[in-house]
Amino acid sequence: MSSREKRPKLAVKLAGVELKNPVMPASGTFGSGKEYEAYLDLEKLGMIVTKGVADRPWKGNPTPRVAETHGGMLNSVGLQNPGIEHFLREDLPFLQSRNTKTMVNIAGRSIEEYVRVVTALQRQPVDFLELNISCPNIKEGGVAFGTDADMAYQVTKKVKAAATQPLIVKLSPNVTDIGAVARACEAGGADGISLINTLLGMKIDIKTRRPLLANTFGGLSGPAIKPVALRMVYQAAKEVKIPIIGIGGISTWEDALEFILAGAAAVQVGTANFRNPRVMLQIIEGLENYLRTENIDGIEELIGAGHELQEGIQC
Ligand SMILES: Cc1cc2nc3c(=O)[nH]c(=O)nc-3n(C[C@H](O)[C@H](O)[C@H](O)COP(=O)(O)O)c2cc1C
Repeated sequence: MSSREKRPKLAVKLAGVELKNPVMPASGTFGSGKEYEAYLDLEKLGMIVTKGVADRPWKGNPTPRVAETHGGMLNSVGLQNPGIEHFLREDLPFLQSRNTKTMVNIAGRSIEEYVRVVTALQRQPVDFLELNISCPNIKEGGVAFGTDADMAYQVTKKVKAAATQPLIVKLSPNVTDIGAVARACEAGGADGISLINTLLGMKIDIKTRRPLLANTFGGLSGPAIKPVALRMVYQAAKEVKIPIIGIGGISTWEDALEFILAGAAAVQVGTANFRNPRVMLQIIEGLENYLRTENIDGIEELIGAGHELQEGIQC
């Protein structure tokens, strides 16, 4: 086999840990992996990301809590989950039995709640922690941790002090200056950041003339949010040195590649899994074909490559 025919390298390093490839599910859209095993070989994924896990069971919000929109969906599920004890007993043994990396997404309504989950995971076979700072801080009147740079710094710092695994902080897009929040997380000791979580939105039922979601507002996800997510990843990549995981509306390999060019070392696929549970495998295959056709040895060469041209332009 000549070097031209060599298989291109899809593996990427994230905070010192090597992943088979840069593609993984987005939290909350893939259960704990078990639910999807009938549709795809989980071991082909770069990593499995769990739904949010809190220190005890959360009931979630009242229904209706999902609605379709043009090019996406709204959800106000409210991070319903059975809590860390259940996760350790029922889900982790399954994840451990599969040959791929595991990232546990962590939910909390106070710094203490986040720290309790992270502490319970200290000696567990988990490769990464993903801290969801879009949760409301009950001690600050329900303002989401991730919407304030100082709160983002504080929660990152305290959680990092308790963590034994690399800590990825997942940012909220519902801010005016994503760069400031990204910098705050890096200063707090994050090993990486992931973005974006859902954008706050709503829908009104014109028959009842009332908000359709019982919670009034919900998080918008899916292809409709991709340009916003891509812009934020691009901006964050200019501000921090830690690795970035790009999320938001990714449903094709071309979308994934755009995020990598914007500066993401890996990508997460969320809402697209609901339409096509095999979509992540198609994305992995598409990226590999692209590298082969373009004669590129490894995907890591492309991380942030979309910035280079612009840096040369003087206005
Ligand atoms: C039904 C649903 C549940 C979600 N649950 C979580 C969660 O538990 N933790 C979290 O950090 N993000 C959660 N998210 C946000 C996604 O992980 C992702 O950031 C967002 O949907 C944008 O990506 P997408 O457009 O590819 O779906 C959820 C999204 C959806 C649609």
